[in-house]
Amino acid sequence: MRVTVFGAAGLLGQALVRELQGEQLTPFSSSDVDIRDWARVQDVVRTSHPEWIVLAAAYTDVDGCESNRDLAFAVNCEGAVNVARAAREVGSRLIFVSTDYVFDGTNTVPYEAGDLRHPINVYGESKARAEEQLIEVLPEVCIARTSWLFGPGGKSFPATILKLAATRPEISVVNDQRGSPTFTPDLASALAQLCRASAHGIVHVTNSGNCTWYDFAREILRVSGMSTAIKAVTTAEFPRPARRPAYSVLSADSLHAYGIRMPAWQDAVRRYLEAR
Ligand SMILES: NC(=O)c1ccc[n+]([C@@H]2O[C@H](COP(=O)([O-])OP(=O)(O)OC[C@H]3O[C@@H](n4cnc5c(N)ncnc54)[C@H](OP(=O)(O)O)[C@@H]3O)[C@@H](O)[C@H]2O)c1
Repeated sequence: MRVTVFGAAGLLGQALVRELQGEQLTPFSSSDVDIRDWARVQDVVRTSHPEWIVLAAAYTDVDGCESNRDLAFAVNCEGAVNVARAAREVGSRLIFVSTDYVFDGTNTVPYEAGDLRHPINVYGESKARAEEQLIEVLPEVCIARTSWLFGPGGKSFPATILKLAATRPEISVVNDQRGSPTFTPDLASALAQLCRASAHGIVHVTNSGNCTWYDFAREILRVSGMSTAIKAVTTAEFPRPARRPAYSVLSADSLHAYGIRMPAWQDAVRRYLEAR
């Protein structure tokens, strides 16, 4: 399989590069290609002429997006459209990596792939708009929504928790946001399987099960054998520039339709910590 990856130096991008080692892979980091630059995107897609493009490049600073709305839309939406146009020109298939933050979090049961988008922050808005535009530009696009990424090679929730727990007698973690932690190597493997399955449409790809950030932190400390106290706090006690959905669990039905199963998030935490 000839695959081109944008965002190859990011958290997910690094896992994709490892996962796709056996394929004819062309990885681009932000210093190779700025996806806002149409001419450059067009040029590298023409040259690499891939069967599949995986678009993992994005402006992912959720709080930063609130004060940099133009940048958020320029990268996450216009940049994504550039990649889709280039894909259309050369007949490449595209997987666009999107987010649980396209939803508002008012659900009490997992979001299905076809549920209405209703983002409550700028990052989510930029990704939701991108999804809509990509479907227009490239109807056979595969939109892979994921959530709460963690993995080696960058800023990651487990690494932050371990660092805090090692230096403080007690840590406070939010207990009123529920989602599914997703391990980047598991996500990369599922994305590769989606390419092989010639997937299209919206697919939800997270590790199975769900928890709050507090539960996630407790599991990280438990598996690490650390006894640092953890205090459950509310989102209201820790105001951030961007609002977060209270519930952003994604139903796996759309992934199961391709015969793909994801490991439980607790199993992923164990493997992440073992490899550290
Ligand atoms: N992290 C999460 O919890 C999460 C949750 C749901 C969905 N997602 C989605 O998953 C995908 C991968 O996320 P991630 O966690 O791997 O993010 P990440 O670590 O921030 O990686 C994103 C990469 O995109 C690059 N990039 C930024 N602006 C660019 C531009 N204009 N042109 C080209 N490259 C650019 C960044 O490079 P620089 O660092 O050099 O700017 C970075 O290497 C993204 O689409 C994200 O929206 C992430």
